[in-house]
Amino acid sequence: MSTEVAVEKMDGAQAAQELAGLADVLARANAAYHRDDAPEISDAEYDRLKRRNAAIEERFPELKRDDSPSDMVGAPVSETFTKVKHAVAMLSLGNAFNDEDVAEFESRVAKYLGIKQGIAFTAEPKIDGLSLSLRYEQGVLVQAATRGDGETGENVTNNARMIDDIPQTLTGAPDVLEVRGEVYMSHANLAALNAAQLAKAAKPFANPRNAAAGSLRQLDARITKARPLHFFAYAWGELSEPLATTQMGAIERLAALGFSTNPLTGRFQGAKALVTHYRKIEEQRATLGYDIDGVVYKVDDLELQRRLGVRSTTPRWAVAHKFPAEIAHTWVEGIDIQVGRTGALSPVARLTPVTVGGVVVSNATLHNEDYIQGRDSKGGMIREGRDIRVGDWVEVYRAGDVIPKVRDVDVSKRKADSKPYVFPAVCPECGSPALREEGDSVARCTGGLICPAQAVEKLKHFVGRSAFDIDGLGKKQIEMFFHDKTLPIREPADIFTLAQRDAQQLTKLKNRDGWGELSAANLFAAIEAKRKIPLNRLIFALGIRHVGDSSGALLAGHYGSWRALVSTLDAAKDHAGEAWEDLLSIDGVGAVMAAALVDTFHAPDTRAAIDRLVAELDVQDAIANDTSGSPVTGKIVVFTGTLELMTRAEAKGRAETLGAKVSGSVSKKTDIVIAGPGAGSKAKKAEALGVKILTEVEWLALIGEAR
Ligand code: IVH
Repeated sequence: MSTEVAVEKMDGAQAAQELAGLADVLARANAAYHRDDAPEISDAEYDRLKRRNAAIEERFPELKRDDSPSDMVGAPVSETFTKVKHAVAMLSLGNAFNDEDVAEFESRVAKYLGIKQGIAFTAEPKIDGLSLSLRYEQGVLVQAATRGDGETGENVTNNARMIDDIPQTLTGAPDVLEVRGEVYMSHANLAALNAAQLAKAAKPFANPRNAAAGSLRQLDARITKARPLHFFAYAWGELSEPLATTQMGAIERLAALGFSTNPLTGRFQGAKALVTHYRKIEEQRATLGYDIDGVVYKVDDLELQRRLGVRSTTPRWAVAHKFPAEIAHTWVEGIDIQVGRTGALSPVARLTPVTVGGVVVSNATLHNEDYIQGRDSKGGMIREGRDIRVGDWVEVYRAGDVIPKVRDVDVSKRKADSKPYVFPAVCPECGSPALREEGDSVARCTGGLICPAQAVEKLKHFVGRSAFDIDGLGKKQIEMFFHDKTLPIREPADIFTLAQRDAQQLTKLKNRDGWGELSAANLFAAIEAKRKIPLNRLIFALGIRHVGDSSGALLAGHYGSWRALVSTLDAAKDHAGEAWEDLLSIDGVGAVMAAALVDTFHAPDTRAAIDRLVAELDVQDAIANDTSGSPVTGKIVVFTGTLELMTRAEAKGRAETLGAKVSGSVSKKTDIVIAGPGAGSKAKKAEALGVKILTEVEWLALIGEAR
């Protein structure tokens, strides 16, 4: 920077202005490096700016800022929070978007439990902040952790101690008590904070959620202290003794212990009453003084909650009823086609930037060709058949964190010479034909492994947050390495040979532009750290169509090990037989997903790439949900005949929670058959094979659930 004023020649005003600028630039550099895995400046430049900041501060100590980069601990690479493994996983919630979804939720619960009606639920606002788990031992706050990925969060204890709503000590609490709730910032506090940010030439926060997250996740707890945050308690994790027998009772107990609980929490009977409360909360939304994005319903009876249990990462006993999406209007400046990791051609509208619910939106999905033309996937009309064109004035909407969508178009604002959008017939990236299979709503590039867009998207998915999540290897770096001539990453296995290949190069990574000794060493260390990978993450990382992160968890939970999964997929080649049936027996795995899995593993080139990858890894078996003490852990059980004490779904859910594998067919590998009245051929087969047969009552006694 040739325009830089020498520090010794600066006046106070220049110093203050430059300190503000440096705080901003360095904070952004940090965020780009850590949060976005996309460094914007070189290590050397970072160091130089930090030294300049320190020199200015030395000359003008009174101008040192609260958010001074000097107080950021260490180099940009070493500073992070320590990790905390949650004793009880922090769950997320399934969504309901309308009244029918809520009725559906109620009947799903009733059906699972085999109860006709009269189930009580609580309803409370869904706070738009970030969740926090507070651990108290003998009544003393010992740890606060963010949700993270639900299994492991970040230790933010020092910061949580700065929040007034969080008691430091409790009287009369269980010896071990983990209180969970939401940290949020009020509208008034956000306005004050943003005014202060602007006054010191710092960037204002886009919304209270970002402000709360940014304020809590500060390495310097003094910054957290200066930014008023609040906390509502609404759930709990590990407990040495129960808080109550109902959700409502537990919330009242937490309130009595000194926590803030939401005053709009109530107890209701049935979906209709829940929706009435939802409307009431919706009416008050604008005047609450803090952001909420829906209403959460929970089964009130905690024994019923326990029976309902958890499916993958969401409880069966709760649902979030979201408020309708926020909308805005803007122009379509262009339509681009993105090629996804499964080859899907996705049209994206490039928009004149517009604010939707506090976030600036400049891209929105147009889903597929039919959607652009005004048809749904069954050929019916949407938007009364209006198509969407470049140059159109459109309505966009955004619900929660999902990608914004284009909903409607105002054809009266359309120019006379506008032309309908023509969907490409070939992949814009590799030129291969794009084909739409029967029944598929999207066109897919048929280039497979030769399509660079698919390959690079697969790699980006592979390093994504729910997959390998490698520090310093984000989308930007994947793009760079993918096109690199000397040190390429073309398939996942290449990531794990990167350090070794670099060692054999003349020009080392550390000597390249944008890299340094530290950043290269850190990247190799971060990669090394992920050789050890939990099975569920590996399955998800492969990027197989229809296999999302919760499916990864289901498959890992069911098969336990990579070997067991692969031998099943190998044996299921023909989409038939015992192995195939076993795949389909998993609650949440259907024929479409099963076929995608099996076919992927039987495509020779893909399989070879998977094998090369796994040879580099140390795949961690799935840790079954602490079922070590369970009498049926690892056992293969089959339910047959009529069950009279629980529904089939609950019986299966309970058995799986206890570590058993529920199969649909009896073989010599079956350990226990639970036979109810009317059991037929399966019970006979079990008898012939000498498999243990229990009645439902005997089974319940075995698993300690005698009713
Ligand atoms: S209950 C198993 N209640 O929403 C139940 N969550 O989308 C765990 N949230 O991660 C959550 N307000 O951060 C619950 N009243 C409320 C909530 C709430 C906000 C957040 C929470 C959770 C997310 C799930």
